[in-house]
Amino acid sequence: MNVEVANALGRIVELKDRSTAAHTWRVSMYAQAVAEAVGVPTQRVMSFMIGAVLHDLGKLDVPDEILAKPGSLEPDEYRRMQEHTIAGWERLRRLGVTDPLILDVVRSHHERIDGSGYPDGLTGEQIPKAARWFAVIDAFDAMTSLRPYRDEVGEEAAMHAILELQSKAGSWYEPEAVELFRRLLDEGRLDSILEHLNDRQGHDSLVGPLTPEVLELAREALLRSSPADEPPDRVDRLLSLARAEATGASSASSDGGA
Ligand SMILES: [Fe+2]
Repeated sequence: MNVEVANALGRIVELKDRSTAAHTWRVSMYAQAVAEAVGVPTQRVMSFMIGAVLHDLGKLDVPDEILAKPGSLEPDEYRRMQEHTIAGWERLRRLGVTDPLILDVVRSHHERIDGSGYPDGLTGEQIPKAARWFAVIDAFDAMTSLRPYRDEVGEEAAMHAILELQSKAGSWYEPEAVELFRRLLDEGRLDSILEHLNDRQGHDSLVGPLTPEVLELAREALLRSSPADEPPDRVDRLLSLARAEATGASSASSDGGA
């Protein structure tokens, strides 16, 4: 899959679900660190990173009122939220993506070793390895991200997150992945990512900023990947978020230069 298209779509997801600000960038960087540490070939590292950028692609299909709801979700809202895994996978299939590594991360990143995850309730090695490894990254970042109730995060949050991952290693998470992540953290090999735990803005993930060309790529990808019952104005609404962000970013940088 084209890296620029992946990046463009990843940015749109980030803009739709503001709670994920900078999450996409961080998980793709953790994915790179983890994959390189285990000696994954370069091309596979890039696929794993693209899977990371797109893991929550299906949130485009979850209503805003559910994504932004403060507090806990009602059972039917939670079911709708869980569907983001399959919705994202289906979008990628419609885009013609066949790389199993990307598809596996997107579909199966909420599966758990003991079968209590979703969407397919897979257990142990039934869960594709890339998804088992990405689940650790995603959970770590969720536990160390800013939230409405969490103003600042730092070393303490990172240590707490590792303990939490360790307590669920073997039941929810792949023990080998938890152990590797802890080692990378201890050795300071994730420090350049951890410096951005308190960032409120998204980053230009794998390639450059939201230029008109990137927005055009996103528009085409959204149209091609949309479900058949997509309301006609939804792609435009999603893109208007990105256009506003791009305009805001360019005016902010020109202000800064003045
Ligand atoms: Fe997810």
